[in-house]
Amino acid sequence: MFNLFGRKPKEPTTLFYHTDVHSHILPGVDHGAQTVTDSIEMLRLQVEMGILRVMCTSHVTAETFENTPETLTAACELLKRAIVDEGLPVEIFASAEYRIDEYWSSEYAAGHVLPMPGNYLLLENSFVQELIEIDELMFDVQVKGYHPILAHPERYRYYNAHHERYEKLHKGNVKFQVNLLSLAGYFGKAAKVNALWLIEHGLCDMLGSDMHSVEHALIIKDYIASKEWRKLVEKYDLTKRIKNDMVK
Ligand SMILES: [Fe+2]
Repeated sequence: MFNLFGRKPKEPTTLFYHTDVHSHILPGVDHGAQTVTDSIEMLRLQVEMGILRVMCTSHVTAETFENTPETLTAACELLKRAIVDEGLPVEIFASAEYRIDEYWSSEYAAGHVLPMPGNYLLLENSFVQELIEIDELMFDVQVKGYHPILAHPERYRYYNAHHERYEKLHKGNVKFQVNLLSLAGYFGKAAKVNALWLIEHGLCDMLGSDMHSVEHALIIKDYIASKEWRKLVEKYDLTKRIKNDMVK
């Protein structure tokens, strides 16, 4: 039809990478998606944002979410069937976001670990204080053949005034995954400032949605349609520097 103002219809904004390495999309295993319907709605939004492969990194934490490779794989199989029924063009993989705590220690010692394809392992620091033995642990997981990814380093407040710790961990071959939600300001000013600092200093290897809900997905969708995001991608050449798609 003749367009009076010469404007093209607005295209949906998509991400420049196709793998989400951090999400809470599996139904009923943590405080992310609770039902298959929630999961499908979140995946639909992922697809709209250009995501084709989703790592389902549900929480594994002492007492609250004592998931095992078996519970996570079962939830993933259930969701895979729903994806086929819905005809969604997305692939999902069962994995986990391991909080480093006493449950992790016993599961890790027993070999009950569910890495992403390529043996990447998403690890979450304590939010209260840095673990004394974190450098040794990051080294040990690499000796065992895993590639550690630190989940949302920008959110650990004890690093706000200790950026040298970021540098040390990163030099020890730990990949850093920053949350899009942090960049969008969802976790407050300090997390956003840290996220931008990591990007500016070349310490952000991957981005993740860390989406727990449709609400989170919509916040991300809005953010990636913003000028702020487009400028960030351009200024720091993120299309070359972000390595999400190496997880395969
Ligand atoms: Fe998470």
